[in-house]
This record gives sequence, structure tokens and C-alpha cells, in this order.
Amino acid sequence: MATNVDLLKRLKLVECRDSTYWPKENPLVFQKAKGSLAWDVEGREYIDLCAGFGALPLGHASEALQAVTNDFQSGRPMVDHAMGDVYPSEEKILFLETLKTMLPPAYALGALALSGGQAVEIALKTAMLKTKRSGVIVFDGAYHGLDLGVLALTAREDFRAPFASWLPETNVIRLPFGAGMDAVNLAIQKLKPFGLAAIIAEPIQGRAGINTPPVGWLESLASVAHEHQGLLILDEIFTGFGRIGTISTASTVDADISCFGKAIGGGFPISACFAKQDVMSAWPESPGEALHTGTFFGHPFSAAVGRRTLQKIQSDGLPQRAKTLGNKVKNQLSNALGGHPLVTDVRGDGLFIGIEFSKPGFAAKIMDDIRPKGVIVLPSGNTGSVLSITPALNISEELFDEAIHRIIRCITK
Ligand SMILES: Cc1ncc(COP(=O)(O)O)c(C=O)c1O
Repeated sequence: MATNVDLLKRLKLVECRDSTYWPKENPLVFQKAKGSLAWDVEGREYIDLCAGFGALPLGHASEALQAVTNDFQSGRPMVDHAMGDVYPSEEKILFLETLKTMLPPAYALGALALSGGQAVEIALKTAMLKTKRSGVIVFDGAYHGLDLGVLALTAREDFRAPFASWLPETNVIRLPFGAGMDAVNLAIQKLKPFGLAAIIAEPIQGRAGINTPPVGWLESLASVAHEHQGLLILDEIFTGFGRIGTISTASTVDADISCFGKAIGGGFPISACFAKQDVMSAWPESPGEALHTGTFFGHPFSAAVGRRTLQKIQSDGLPQRAKTLGNKVKNQLSNALGGHPLVTDVRGDGLFIGIEFSKPGFAAKIMDDIRPKGVIVLPSGNTGSVLSITPALNISEELFDEAIHRIIRCITK
């Protein structure tokens, strides 16, 4: 039997060294997973509080995936290629219809891609087509993906610096997350040569360390953007479809465009950019060749699993469950860790929880310390000082409770 270390050594021989983390101790190579449990190649069991970076709202090997594979086995072979922008699959149409029925009514039209970064690319191009401008306001801590088109929007200097000479940084103004409207107005003035195309913000920042903006801030951004004939783009890739207790933050904020990814594919690659009718209609009618497309955009298999995932999120009331369960666990963590000398905050909303430590790198250390104790969590924040807890939305209370107790013991030992 190959061990975790054996397999990682083999990986190192064939993969770019930037691609995969190799922990100094207790490495983990996944072999199988079900629900919120996963097992490594040596048979060790883990409770998964990461859920594929939030991409597994129903956990691993979900009912949604099983329904699609059952269909396949029962003699209803699926169209397995999207034919991109030419001939649509039935599944792509059903998926877009399902997304639309769940979204706020203002969101009339959508475009599909494969990854979160690609959905943000579509949002940016949409804003540029609609406004005929190219200035963008973004925020410290923002994470919008690492593809070159969106890299200029992502905040972390270490991600951008090696490629800075390629990035259109002059069109982009970065402000503190939660910046006041005076600062936003000033930035709009500075963008004059390009004009304000859009302000883009995450409803709650994920990779920056589960940062929640001031109450009413997103609403104010929408007003200011609209006063200047610009758009507000919400990057709901992490937060959307249940994680923070709602399907979309655009149900309360007058945003023009939202980007979705992660959860909507139930673990399979698919993402979406939805916009108001007049905004998305800035794209020209396809003359037979789309202005923006990709070989696998709207992939039927991802769409099929995604649609069943979305239906289950709705029928099982998972956004509400995320809110109730997440807030209970947040209180449990606050009570247990409130007096700890290194814990500075426990925050978040729904099943999007962060434990902040005063010591840089401490959350990364907890991630490594708790792995051999059978829990998978990730650090976030620019210095790895926030422990992120983002389990499947249907994790059992019993399993979640067990994992939270192990985390508390690991921090307080
Ligand atoms: C808010 C947000 N936007 C965009 C992305 C990029 O998504 P992807 O990695 O699928 O390109 C992420 C990924 O974590 C994200 O959290």
C-alpha cells in the first residue's frame, strides 16, 4: 500500500512545485470521502470542515452526484460535451433556469463558466461593455481569483507582484474594506481618465479571514456607484447559495451583477455571472461565434450535479440551517475561547466562521496540529492568522460538535 509520503514524493516528480502544499509532518493524500468524512490513503479518517473550499454544500459523494450517476447507469447516457457557444445541452438550460428561479427577480440573465475567477472575468467584461468605461474600485483583502484578467483585482501583493508589469493596475483603485463613502467618491474622481465601470466587493471576505463589512456598507456602495453611472458587482463565489444563510446578498443590496461559483456545482466545476436585464444585454447577440466563451463553459455534467445540488439546498432549507447552526457554533467557540490569550476574535455569519489569533501563522499551525487529530480546516488572512471553518451545509450536528471540540482542545492545550 502506498503511503501519503510515497504518493507525495511521486507527485513532486510530475507536478509544478508551486501547485501542492507538502506539510512537514502528517501529510494527507485523499483516497475516498463521503458526506463530511474523508479518508487518506492509509485509512485515517478526517472530519472535513473545509468542504472543498466551500464547493461541497452537500458534502462529498452527495445525493446530487448519485442521482446523476444513477441516471447514467440506468441507460440515460448524458451528453458529455458542452459544445460551448454553439449547441446547448438540455442540462445547461435547466441549470440556468434553476439558478434564475432562486435568485432575486432583478437578476434576469446569466452566463456560465467553469471557475470563480472566470465568472469575475465575465462580470468585469459585462461592466465594461455596459458602461463603456474601465475604472474599477476594489478593496484590501479582496480575493477575486488569480487568472491574469482578475489578478489586478485581488489584493494580496505576493500574488500580484511577480506579474505586476502585465497588470492594468492604473485602472484599479484599492481602498480599505469598509472604506467610507468620502474615500469612495475621491477614488471615483481619481479614476476620471477611465471612468467608473464598477465597484466590486465580497459580501463577507473569505480568503482575507472572514471579514464582515460595516452594516449598510454594500448598500452605500450601490448608491455611490449608481450616482456615478457605474455598477456594483458582488463577488458571491464563496458566500452565495447558502453559506452565509442566504441565497444571494443581492436580495437586500441593489447590485447590478453577481458572481457565483463553488457551491453551485456541488463539487464540479461550473460558475455563473448573473446581471440585471439591461446590464447583461450590453453583450451583442451572438452571430454564431460568442464574444466570450470557453470549450467547457456550462459543462452538462457539472450543470446536472449543480442543478440537483441547488434544488436540495432549497428543499432542505440549508441556508436557514447554516444560519442557525453556524451562529450556535460561533457562540460555542466564543464562550470556549473568549479568554484565550491568543484569540482576538470569533466572527462570521452562517457556516462561514473565522477564529482570529494575534500571532501571525498561528492558524496555519493549528491546521497542521489538528490534521493528525482527524480534522481538516484551513488558515486564512494575509498572515495565516485566521482559522476558517466552512463545512458542508448539511454536516450532522454530532460530527460538527465533535470537530469543534477537537479544535477547542487543540487551541487550548
Ligand atoms: C470570493 C472569491 N472570488 C473568486 C474566487 C476564485 O474562484 P476560483 O478559485 O474558482 O477561480 C474565490 C476562490 O476562493 C473566492 O473566494
